[in-house]
Amino acid sequence: MRATARAHTNIALIKYWGKRDESLFLPMNSSLSITLDKFFTTTTVEFCSCLTEDVFVLNNQLASEQELTKITRFLDRVREISGKGYRAIVNSTNNVPTAAGFASSASGFAALTAAATKALGLNLDGTTLSKIARQGSGSACRSIHGGFVEWRKGEKIDGSDSFAKPVMSDKSWNISILSVLLTSKPKGISSREGMKRTVETSPFYSGWLASVEQDFLSAKEAIRARDFEKLGTIMEANAMKMHATTLGANPPFSYWNSGTFDVMQEVHNLRTLGIQSYFTIDAGPNVKILCHPKEEQIVQEALLKIPTVKAIHICHPGPGIKYLSDSDRLKKY
Ligand code: ADP
Ligand code: DP6
Repeated sequence: MRATARAHTNIALIKYWGKRDESLFLPMNSSLSITLDKFFTTTTVEFCSCLTEDVFVLNNQLASEQELTKITRFLDRVREISGKGYRAIVNSTNNVPTAAGFASSASGFAALTAAATKALGLNLDGTTLSKIARQGSGSACRSIHGGFVEWRKGEKIDGSDSFAKPVMSDKSWNISILSVLLTSKPKGISSREGMKRTVETSPFYSGWLASVEQDFLSAKEAIRARDFEKLGTIMEANAMKMHATTLGANPPFSYWNSGTFDVMQEVHNLRTLGIQSYFTIDAGPNVKILCHPKEEQIVQEALLKIPTVKAIHICHPGPGIKYLSDSDRLKKY
């Protein structure tokens, strides 16, 4: 009753922002993402009749009560599906900063879904895994798949039509995603709390909903046509609209810091110099930049000159979930 799985993080090109059902993690809007090659989570789950409680070890440390509660709540769902009530030891390692806007929750819950269901002897397809992962963290449903991925919001109240599916594989369009690290400190307001406050209090939220489905359709068209400029333009505008909703919340908040502005300005500057680059920002100050592979070094060098930039990781589209053997887990990646 033990299995190990690896899932990669994803960045949202069109953001998931707001839930219509909090307990089932059903989104207000459809979203679109790229799964990244460089950042991932590896999770081993072992169920045992000898345990009376779940145990959660994250990055070699026993996780807090609050984190454990989230894992237990999620595993309860998996136990319900499998009909097996055993408790588990979950040992997970993030190859990405945790809770800093680099989507550790996405890779974390996708890897947990794959490992836990496999450990209980369930051999599930991508759609079923995606629906389960969604109930740990919405964005995790997209990390089940590699490459370019869509998550249609669905209409049904039981969530059976709300899951992610691939749009195009990781090998079909090589673009670069530069992950710009300004801080790896955990954010003050989680995505969960931020989107809830925005839905409930921001007068700008209706503006978000009025345009996001069109952004989703246009971005998907741009991906299929491999139209870089169109995709970058829509992605950047969509991120700005999402972050604008937080300024109207009560109390207002923003995920940005001064470095975020520095990077945004440099991206605009690069465009005026003829280098096609576009930014997006998830729930945190760090910025991700889309550019052409042939220009990734130029963009990286320009950004490294900004004093607030601590590091830049050059990523490309990456794979979906993988199951690992015990010996694979021990190998250094
Ligand atoms: P991020 O930008 O990293 O996704 P969030 O605040 O949205 O930040 O999510 C962070 C939360 O995701 C953590 O507090 C934890 O509950 C969950 N998480 C992170 N890593 C893992 C993991 N490896 N396994 C399970 N859950 C994880
Ligand atoms: C801004 O998936 O972390 O990154 O479903 O509450 O766990 P929960 O939220 P989460 O939110 C991600 C928000 C985002 C946009 C995105 O990834 O689409």
